[in-house]
Amino acid sequence: MAIQEVKDGWLYLDRGTMIWQKNATAAQGVFQPIHWVALSRMQATLRLAPYDGRIADIGCGHGVVTVNLAWKKPRTEVIGVDPEEQRLEVGRQILNEHGLPNCKFQKGTLEAPGIEPGTCTGVLCTEVLDHIPEVREHLREKVDKLLELLKPGGRLILSIFDTEGSTDAGLAPPTALTLADFDFLKTKVIDRNCPRWWYLFYVDKR
Ligand SMILES: C[S@@+](CC[C@H](N)C(=O)[O-])C[C@H]1O[C@@H](n2cnc3c(N)ncnc32)[C@H](O)[C@@H]1O
Repeated sequence: MAIQEVKDGWLYLDRGTMIWQKNATAAQGVFQPIHWVALSRMQATLRLAPYDGRIADIGCGHGVVTVNLAWKKPRTEVIGVDPEEQRLEVGRQILNEHGLPNCKFQKGTLEAPGIEPGTCTGVLCTEVLDHIPEVREHLREKVDKLLELLKPGGRLILSIFDTEGSTDAGLAPPTALTLADFDFLKTKVIDRNCPRWWYLFYVDKR
């Protein structure tokens, strides 16, 4: 895929912005230059997301998925939440550049997102759970916290790094989770379109 095609279809942080110049380590996270594997993960994730209502992106990082979600789904109200203010600033920069009215970023955590329970049609939590050290013993509790944000019929979209299948990626999140760790979610649906570095799956709240 040519970079130009990507530019036309997706929002990203421009290399010329001040934040980019100050924060070069954000390279992969903000897809500059576009990281094709991360882009196809984002595409697969967005295909699963609702078209309307409030969507919380918990652990949104630099907010690239967040702003693209708002851009591709204009009937939604998207809230990006992350504990790291510096990362949220990158998201806000992209937001300012593109002037999206249906998106905002706020400081918070999965445990205390600052969003009223039962108000979301969708919750995204991608590449976050396995970034929490020693999360395995609290995993169910964390997932319940995410499910709590949803209205009945709402969708929780999760992804984790596939540590065993992706030794070539040179990445190792603090906790190596597998799909089996989520067996307590009896109805989870696994998305096979996601590129091989990750597992992407979702559960619809009854
Ligand atoms: C690898 S980034 C994922 C960013 C984005 N969700 C994505 O899919 O590209 C992990 C993010 O999780 C955030 N994080 C870590 N612990 C968290 C917690 N307890 N609650 C919410 N976010 C957390 C980090 O600040 C970081 O921005």
